[in-house]
Amino acid sequence: MEQSTAVHWHGISIDNDMDGVPGLTQDAVSAGEAFDYDFVVPHPGTYWYHTHDRSWEQNARGLHGALIVEEPEPYDVDGDLTLVIDDWRLDDRSQIDEDSMGAAGDWSHGGRTGGLLTVNGSSTPDIDVVAGERIRMRLINTANARILGVSFGDLPASAVALDGYPIEPREVDGPVVLGPAQRVDVVVDMTGDPGAVGQLELLTQEGAAPGATFRYGPDEPIRTSFPDVPALPSRAPGSAALDLDDPVRVDLLMEGGAMGGMSAATLDGQTLAMPELMDARRFWAFNGVAGDLDMPLTTVARNRTVVVTIQNQTAFPHVMHFHGHHFQVITRDGVPSAQPDWRDSELMGQGETVELAFLADNPGKWLLHCHMLEHAAAGMMTWLNVT
Ligand code: C2O
Ligand code: CU
Repeated sequence: MEQSTAVHWHGISIDNDMDGVPGLTQDAVSAGEAFDYDFVVPHPGTYWYHTHDRSWEQNARGLHGALIVEEPEPYDVDGDLTLVIDDWRLDDRSQIDEDSMGAAGDWSHGGRTGGLLTVNGSSTPDIDVVAGERIRMRLINTANARILGVSFGDLPASAVALDGYPIEPREVDGPVVLGPAQRVDVVVDMTGDPGAVGQLELLTQEGAAPGATFRYGPDEPIRTSFPDVPALPSRAPGSAALDLDDPVRVDLLMEGGAMGGMSAATLDGQTLAMPELMDARRFWAFNGVAGDLDMPLTTVARNRTVVVTIQNQTAFPHVMHFHGHHFQVITRDGVPSAQPDWRDSELMGQGETVELAFLADNPGKWLLHCHMLEHAAAGMMTWLNVT
């Protein structure tokens, strides 16, 4: 390419020097140069990889892919389908709209979204299915900033993993919601009749749109009743490893954006008023710092439990992503989670406060940012130092 780049392996507990963050874990790979990523994948699951340099532009242009790590024993389903869901902003010639690339209005509001939705790079692709089969569908939201709902209509569906991390199978009622970068593995029973046509529907702020078409073959159903959905093998360490009696506590205040009322923030050691920040293309801040990576949010010793209390004081939702670690949401607006899931990216509503707990078991410099990529570029970025 004509630009420098780097690749981040999203959700994988990787060695820090392979994490792909220019300026933190490696130098950007310049145009014409090469870099060998060489790592071991410790846990099975649904992951993805994407550019981490100028990612607001490079990811919008499609520089990402799915990364599936298989379980040691095959999971008991008839089919395994990866569905990469994305959106694209096109110009009047149906090309990627370049004029609006990096538009300040997107950076200070909800990020870059586009009106064309695709599944695996196609608009409403056909998916051939067999009546009576059970399919594991791995949903991945690779959009820069769009929150997506995925609906299977009347088909029985159960979520079995979130962000690659197995959960007890949980029946899906209503759409599965994915913020940017989130993944959900859903086991779907194809209960339509032979020859039938079904729909996977995508729900966005603008309404419902067809996402893909299920086309049933002519053969008789391979089964008419379905066994209980099996759990994926559970992943160690699990919650027992968290020490919530004596954690390291950190507060993270999210501020800024349109209608956010932020008046100043620090950038490279200087306090800048909002107009100066806007000139520097920074619209957001974490704890008053507009995304320079001079200092970590905190430094912790390896194997300590960390609880980060994140308060969203902005007028927008955000998706908080921790590199290298899965965390549990232990409270939301002060209410303890009944069933704390392990995730690597958490969708937070406007005005919400969440407490996220994780075990800092992997030494290195770990980025922590909003996965609405325009927000990250415009200030919503910091890092954790695990010594
Ligand atoms: Cu998928 Cu730093 O991101
Ligand atoms: Cu954000």
